[in-house]
Amino acid sequence: MAITDPYIVTVLLDVNETQDVDDRAESRSYIVADRGSRQAVIIDAVIENVARDLNILKELGLTLRFAIETHIHADHITGASLIKERTGAQIVYGGGAKGDVTGVDQFLFEGEALRFGHTVLTALATPGHTNGCTSYVLPGAVFTGDALFVRGNGRTDLQGGSAEKLFDSVRKKLFALPDDTIVYPGHDYQGRVSSTIMEEKQFNERLNLSINKETFVETMNRRKTPRPAKMDIAIPANMSAGRTIEP
Ligand SMILES: [Fe+2]
Repeated sequence: MAITDPYIVTVLLDVNETQDVDDRAESRSYIVADRGSRQAVIIDAVIENVARDLNILKELGLTLRFAIETHIHADHITGASLIKERTGAQIVYGGGAKGDVTGVDQFLFEGEALRFGHTVLTALATPGHTNGCTSYVLPGAVFTGDALFVRGNGRTDLQGGSAEKLFDSVRKKLFALPDDTIVYPGHDYQGRVSSTIMEEKQFNERLNLSINKETFVETMNRRKTPRPAKMDIAIPANMSAGRTIEP
């Protein structure tokens, strides 16, 4: 990233020592900091990592303005409410989650923007993994949550998921972003940090441009993926922005 870019992205991995019994691992969180004002946001914070993440913000001299969620996660509990309690940051969910989540300060609908310093982050509704999934676009980068992964995509069999909707979200909305847009996914299970829209158009295993909607839908509907281990705890907790559960 060029030194003149107005923002810096810090990628935060989830390190989970009990991976065999808890599929929280491989969640990705991101701090985006506006260079000029030192204002920052955190995207998809994980409750167990809040102390670490706040320490990074403190070390870097950043003021956290917003704790932003791409969707209601089924695999881990969000750190949003704990972060709000400790920093005063406002909790932001995508507009698609309105009606499903309490304790949210702002819902960001398609095309609506959050400004922190000179950096502007814009919501893009990308339903399909859940019905309320939202991606967040910066100039030159997009945080795709569980809609689009590096070479893959999120499951579509839970939480109002729809393979048809996910296909349209990726192909009509995410793939409409400039080809060199950096893709920051909500998970990666193979240690990859980011991709680009061009790479995913070419190489995504299920959504590259040579694959049609029917094939994608068939593939997704055939998949048998185990339920997330913490799902019955995580979903209710995340429906109150992580407020009900202590770390
Ligand atoms: Fe998810």
